[in-house]
Amino acid sequence: MSAKLDPQAATLNQVIETANPALLSMLSERGRKIYFPKMGILAQSAEARGKEINATIGTALDENAAPLCLPSIAAQMNLPKGATFPYAPSPGLPEIREQWGKMLLQKNPGLAGKLISQPVVSCALTHGLSTAAYLFCDEGDVLLTPDLYWENYDLIFGVSFGAEIATYPAFNAQGGFNLEALRQAMAARKEQKLIISLNFPNNPAGYTLLEQEVPALKQLLLAEAAQGRQLVVLLDDAYFGLVFEKGVYTQSMFVDLCDAHPNILAVKLDGPTKEDYVWGFRVGFLTFGSRGATPAVYQALEGKCAGAIRASISNASMPAQSMLLAAWKNPAYAAEKQQAYELLQSRYTEIKRILAAHPEYQTAFEPLPFNSGYFMCVRLKNADPEKVRQTLLTKHSTGVINLCGILRIAFSATPTAKLEKLFANLFAACQGE
Ligand SMILES: Cc1ncc(COP(=O)(O)O)c(C=O)c1O
Repeated sequence: MSAKLDPQAATLNQVIETANPALLSMLSERGRKIYFPKMGILAQSAEARGKEINATIGTALDENAAPLCLPSIAAQMNLPKGATFPYAPSPGLPEIREQWGKMLLQKNPGLAGKLISQPVVSCALTHGLSTAAYLFCDEGDVLLTPDLYWENYDLIFGVSFGAEIATYPAFNAQGGFNLEALRQAMAARKEQKLIISLNFPNNPAGYTLLEQEVPALKQLLLAEAAQGRQLVVLLDDAYFGLVFEKGVYTQSMFVDLCDAHPNILAVKLDGPTKEDYVWGFRVGFLTFGSRGATPAVYQALEGKCAGAIRASISNASMPAQSMLLAAWKNPAYAAEKQQAYELLQSRYTEIKRILAAHPEYQTAFEPLPFNSGYFMCVRLKNADPEKVRQTLLTKHSTGVINLCGILRIAFSATPTAKLEKLFANLFAACQGE
């Protein structure tokens, strides 16, 4: 990499290194070089704020200093122009960052009293993952993930940032999270730094850790960190909150890892995309937590994050951030969200009923463990998954996804009344009918 280390980046690095040298060495080369410019255009623009004549702003204003916008576009929005048309700051609107931070605490009561960063706004989780890769992933670094993972990890970590994606079997023989496989996968690696992705509820499997599985996973990562391994743990919480069974962990493992050990940096990636059913809004958050990290360290990480955002998308959508902020203040929001949750839960319950009511299905396919999220998967016992997928399309007008030799069924997108037929079609297609 050719760019020299800017003094502003050097200052951030020094703050991080003084508090915890391990955190500095977890950063990628890009991550060490990036900074959010405190001088230059942004600083000069900030200095001119409120002046009688402010000719610093890189947007257009009308003769009354309101955003110069086209009425045909403004007519689509019922938010004030100022909450719609201007740029949002690179790390996100201060109000949405604060509000998401408060909501994180409500949704994860275990965070109470723990020191974590403020959430930084990304252009939804994909960009959050990409920003995390920018900050922590060098060419040849290893990303450890269960073998059931969102395929876009290949493009983000593998193709774009040159990581080696190393997998381990997601489930053990008892149908639980395969802790032993993760332990072996870590032991097999010599690298001092590992990037570990934990995605619960999982895409594609729809599995979240049981409460009883959490302490052992934490213990495993702690033991690894205690031996000097540096772990950047990405908590991909895209489907957070959609847990449908008792005994399943309802908090993010960020709660357990954000203050676990100085050699563990927990990076929480989450957002309203799936939590609030706003897939096209493109708003997400990155939040950092590490034992012993001071507010100054978190500010340095947030600054680096903001720099990576400024260098890629500049800033996330202003109308989307404003709409979300307004919606979260609406007294109807909580009940509406509960209603959407109950709809997805009722589909989950219906699938469990269908599988129990049709023991004959077990001759053709078995479900992988699932208890949460948008999806469930089936492993076929005799038939070829791609052939079955084609048969479903051509003979039964039914679409499912074939990945890694299993079929993924998105019950999030299937009306409840069609679920019975979906599984009957699948059974028939497995017989070649
Ligand atoms: C596990 C996982 N992480 C991240 C994402 C990306 O979410 P977003 O649409 O917010 O970028 C998805 C989307 O399908 C996902 O399944």
